[in-house]
Formats: sequence, structure tokens, C-alpha cells
Amino acid sequence: MNIHLETERLIIRDLTIQDLDGMFALDSNPEVHRYLGNKPIKEKAEALNYINDVQKQYKERGIGRWAVELKDSGEFIGWCGLRLYNDYTFNNHSNFYDIGYRLLPKFWGKGYATEASKACLQYAWNVLKLDTIYGITEIENEASHRILLKIGLNYVEDFYYEAENMQLRWYELKNPN
Ligand SMILES: CC(C)(COP(=O)(O)OP(=O)(O)OC[C@H]1O[C@@H](n2cnc3c(N)ncnc32)[C@H](O)[C@@H]1OP(=O)(O)O)[C@@H](O)C(=O)NCCC(=O)NCCS
Repeated sequence: MNIHLETERLIIRDLTIQDLDGMFALDSNPEVHRYLGNKPIKEKAEALNYINDVQKQYKERGIGRWAVELKDSGEFIGWCGLRLYNDYTFNNHSNFYDIGYRLLPKFWGKGYATEASKACLQYAWNVLKLDTIYGITEIENEASHRILLKIGLNYVEDFYYEAENMQLRWYELKNPN
């Protein structure tokens, strides 16, 4: 297992095929998809495709979203981390990195997404030596706005994402080093 980061309560590691049940539970949950375009998946094969695609990103882009598990129990709680967008354009940006997170609802409200994201941001600056990290979230996703602001990103603007008919909010943070 390729572990990238360890925080006080979390292990952050590569997503693997062992996470299939957890990923299906995550992405088939309508509550999880409330601010993600309201299209929860129906088949396990879709979760498998997602894992395969992320693993391809690890190889081809050197980074992709990572699994998050609880240090104490080893339980899979969701994913977090960085994604290189070199496949499509968002808000007139291409070839940029964003930070994201998605957790199973029973683990919400405990500060896990913030804890994981802080560690991923440090990885972006200290290991990948990136210049800028962006954050993108649906305009009504209060928990997500809160996380991005807590980890230090700055609000830039709101924009309309035509491909998904969504109103999104754009944040950014420059490498402080
Ligand atoms: C977004 C998500 C990852 C948050 O995970 P989490 O571990 O509960 O987040 P944290 O506990 O670290 O922080 C959430 C913050 O938002 C606040 N918050 C949560 N719901 C809120 C709401 N409805 N209104 C205002 N603030 C809210 C919390 O109080 C907390 O802030 P605080 O520490 O200042 O009190 C989780 O809700 C999730 O997986 N949602 C579905 C997927 C998703 O929307 N991902 C983001 C896509 S951009």
C-alpha cells in the first residue's frame, strides 16, 4: 500500500481496488452528490471505472485523488487530495491543480476533510512544489466553502459551468514558500 501522508487521525494513501465497496457506498449516496450535480451512481462498475481512472492519473499525471482511512480502525472514509486538470477547461483555466474531498456522511462534522486537506496542501507546496492550488465548489455547498477558507484558500469569483449547468465558486492559493 502506497501511503503518502499521515495526520493525527488519518492515513492518506493510494486508492486501490480494495476500496471498491467504500467508493460505491460513497458515490451511490444522493446526500453525497447533493452539490455535485445530483447524479449518484447506480452500478458498482461505475465505482470501478473511477478507481481505474484515478490509478491511471497516478501513472500519467503523477498525482490523483487519494483514499482516506482512519488511523485507529483502518476504516475507509472517503477521498481527498489533488487532481491535475489537463483534460478539460474550467473557468478559462486548463492545466491546473485543484484540491477536493468527498467523505461518507457518517464521518462528516468531525474535521476530517479539513485535516486531510491541510496535509494535501503541504504536499502540494513541499513535495510537488506547485505554484498555485485552486478550489472549486458549488455555490450552496457551505461545508466545502468553509473547508477551503479554513485551509487558507482565497475567494476569487463565482462562475457558471455550462457543461453541468452549475453555479460554482472559484478559490485559489499561491505557494507561500
Ligand atoms: C464537504 C465534506 C467533505 C465536508 O467534510 P467534513 O469532514 O464534515 O468537513 P470538516 O468537518 O472538516 O469541515 C466542515 C466545516 O463546514 C461547516 N459546515 C458543515 N455544514 C455546514 C452548513 N450546512 N452550513 C455552514 N457550515 C457548515 C462545519 O461546521 C465545519 O466548519 P467549522 O470547523 O468551522 O465548524 C462532506 O460534507 C462531503 O463529503 N460532502 C459531499 C461531497 C462534497 O460536496 N464534496 C465537496 C465538493 S467541492
